[in-house]
Amino acid sequence: CGIIACIGHTDDTVDVLLSGLSSLEYRGYDSAGIAVSNGTLDVRKREGELDNLHDAVDTDPISGTFGIGHTRWSTHGPPTDENAHPHTDADWRVAVVHNGIIENYQELRDELEAAGYEFVSDTDTEVVPNLVASFLDEGYDAAESFSRAVSRLEGSYALAVIVAGEDSIFATRQDSPLVLGIGEDAYYLGSDVPAFLSYTRNVVYLEDGQSVTLRPNGWQVKNGDGAVVEPPVHTVEWDAEQTGKSGYEHFMLKEIHEQPTALRQCLSGRLDPLEGDVIVEELSDLDTPGAVQFVACGTSYHAALYGAMRFREVGIPAQAFLASEYATAPPPIADDELVVGVTQSGETADTLSALRTAQGRGAETLAVTNVVGSTASRECDHVMYIRSGPEIGVAATKTFSSQLVSLSLFVESVTSNTGSGRTRALVESLRDVAGDVQSVLDDSEGEIEELVDELGGSDAYFFIGRGYNAPVALEGALKFKEITYEHAEGFPAGELKHGPLALITDETPVFAVVTGDDEAARKTLGNIKEVQARGAPVVAVTDGVLEVERFADEVLRVPETDGNLGSLLANVQLQLVAYEMAASLGRPIDKPRNLAKSVTVE
Ligand code: G6P
Repeated sequence: CGIIACIGHTDDTVDVLLSGLSSLEYRGYDSAGIAVSNGTLDVRKREGELDNLHDAVDTDPISGTFGIGHTRWSTHGPPTDENAHPHTDADWRVAVVHNGIIENYQELRDELEAAGYEFVSDTDTEVVPNLVASFLDEGYDAAESFSRAVSRLEGSYALAVIVAGEDSIFATRQDSPLVLGIGEDAYYLGSDVPAFLSYTRNVVYLEDGQSVTLRPNGWQVKNGDGAVVEPPVHTVEWDAEQTGKSGYEHFMLKEIHEQPTALRQCLSGRLDPLEGDVIVEELSDLDTPGAVQFVACGTSYHAALYGAMRFREVGIPAQAFLASEYATAPPPIADDELVVGVTQSGETADTLSALRTAQGRGAETLAVTNVVGSTASRECDHVMYIRSGPEIGVAATKTFSSQLVSLSLFVESVTSNTGSGRTRALVESLRDVAGDVQSVLDDSEGEIEELVDELGGSDAYFFIGRGYNAPVALEGALKFKEITYEHAEGFPAGELKHGPLALITDETPVFAVVTGDDEAARKTLGNIKEVQARGAPVVAVTDGVLEVERFADEVLRVPETDGNLGSLLANVQLQLVAYEMAASLGRPIDKPRNLAKSVTVE
């Protein structure tokens, strides 16, 4: 989703908001809207393309001296006019735009409905204008009502709020980006700098817990405890091409760095650390399946291999199929068997066709997807969203991490292991996973560039791993080959000796993924020795538990974690390796030749 707000443009507020929304277009959206104030509030919002909103404003014009705008990319609640932002209370005293997820919205909604406040949408956001209105009704002023409302919210949010009769915009953030833009006589808010870059390059990056008030003649930032702060003002130097990428060279690199946020969003409201439990609301009506078949393609297939392994670990037979092969000789489907399509886009023709084959044979189906309203989400009996936010780079990165976490949540939530030791440990490591990914990203700078310098120009690049690290080895190789155009292969480590070992020379670097200290990890050590004995340079991607460094030429470290999430962390290192190698070769990283983000032919 994208937020824009502006104050100080007396004549062209609506144009500034609409142009802000189109600058945020790259974030993807399925509906959009604006609210402006002229003492009273006016709202226009529409499902679909921005043109629909333009038409609505042309047919029924509005004007104001300040306002807020939003592009929505649904995480729950389908894209409709009602679900589009801004949301208001029934009397149109308060209008709100929001990115993120309010986790305790049901509780707040029940409370507000009981007090007589009316709701018209399916969104979590709608509690915010009603909550602010309820404090106005208690006699608090607008600023106090806003801060009291915010103190009741749990979850992630960037919020911008306007109140009828007030010449201020109130905003705050928690785990969702929000940037303040400082113009000469006008001030802006955006979920990303491009929202207002044509008006100013001077920005303040707000921090979690901070709030900001914009007035026609100035702005003020406060910390969570209410103390006024003077945050540093930065000048953005990006060129036009870099703006959508938030200053990153490529969307892929931006999306690699967005992973901590994407994972927080994926987990939001789905973990109960007190009970050591996992709650996936969308799956509450799904019984524990007797067996599971996964169908998927490309990167999603690698996530499916991981998901199938997790099910087998808890005693439920499960297998991952390449969707393009599924229909040729479809496996028998038992009555209590569930067929799961893992598809980021929800539109991959091979996956849709496999799901339809399974449905034709009477199977119950589930889509695990990133796109609300996608074909897979509409055609399957159940749908679980991975909530990554839009991914633009053709090479999937953040969606893969979110798929691994979503599939872990899926397994726990349908096997009802509430409070079991296993679930408790997993819940704990899931709570840390976003921070662990962040530390991989923070620590790896520079290190990987050197590695790439050293290994560039080799004959081929191999990736090996066992158990949960086998899909990561396959994914590491896929990412590498698709964006570098270099020859790369991934193998379950034990398979090397059954053929590929013949290709090993001192010109074939081997990336070996080893995490934890289970039997799979210990056996991988043996495979590392096999390739090293044949002269291959070995790069260990490891948490160091098994002291693999003793057998490796180079080491990429990841934090130690439980619950097989080490594989996810190792994969982040391999994403960076692929990216840096492709960058060093000058490849068109976001749009590799011959490939498409979503392949809609079989
Ligand atoms: C295409 C993309 C891959 C992706 C695959 C499956 O081939 O280039 O990156 O993994 O489709 O996409 P899906 O949207 O179904 O996850």
